[in-house]
Amino acid sequence: MTKTFPPSIIALDGPAASGKSTLGQTLANALGYLFFDTGIMYRAVTWIALEHDMDVRDETSITQLAQGAHIDIMPPSKADGRTCDIIVGDTDDVTWDIRSGEVDANVSVVSAYAGVRKALTEQQRRIGLRGKVVMVGRDIGTVVLPEADLKIYLDASAEERAQRRYDELIARGQQADYDEILQKVIERDKIDSTRAVAPLRPADDAVIVDSDKMDAEQVFAHVLKLCK
Ligand code: DC
Repeated sequence: MTKTFPPSIIALDGPAASGKSTLGQTLANALGYLFFDTGIMYRAVTWIALEHDMDVRDETSITQLAQGAHIDIMPPSKADGRTCDIIVGDTDDVTWDIRSGEVDANVSVVSAYAGVRKALTEQQRRIGLRGKVVMVGRDIGTVVLPEADLKIYLDASAEERAQRRYDELIARGQQADYDEILQKVIERDKIDSTRAVAPLRPADDAVIVDSDKMDAEQVFAHVLKLCK
């Protein structure tokens, strides 16, 4: 595929809590594109497994689960800070459940399974190839949509990302411990970037944006310039 300008398929990758979702959502709104956060799918599979008391170390069962899972993204039904509804099966609204500490702690294991990735990547690719999309994840530019017109890799230090996650939890009225969050961020980075299948890394042709010294608005302005 030839690269189009303005870009129609935009891949946005980066580590946990680097601000990808905020940037992706704002960018998609500004361009009138679909925003698709692929992490939601890995989280939803993990949530279903935990809900059914499955052992997340059982690769065969978790892979079968991912192959049959019905995960839907719908317009927001409530004004509680959500940007969309995430529905599992026909009715379960798991929008906030998939952000729980338990899902956080198990999702890296689930997303490292080759069969899980294959099942979810196929769905993501089908949606992404329609164009006019900002797709967010870890492997969008490298594996899911290598033909993307624009690839952004949004980076930030582990300390900065842990601070952001801490602030988010406190703002939501939840308890949080900065050191614990930092440890978890470092642990997830390690699993995400050392797994055998589709490890977290920038594509060779990605534009790397370091958000350590930029706030969300500055990052958005910088990336919007690349699109226009
Ligand atoms: O972006 P997030 O924190 O919601 O992602 C949740 C998990 O899913 C994280 O451990 C990385 C994984 N993930 C992935 O492996 N590939 C993607 N395209 C998106 C997320």
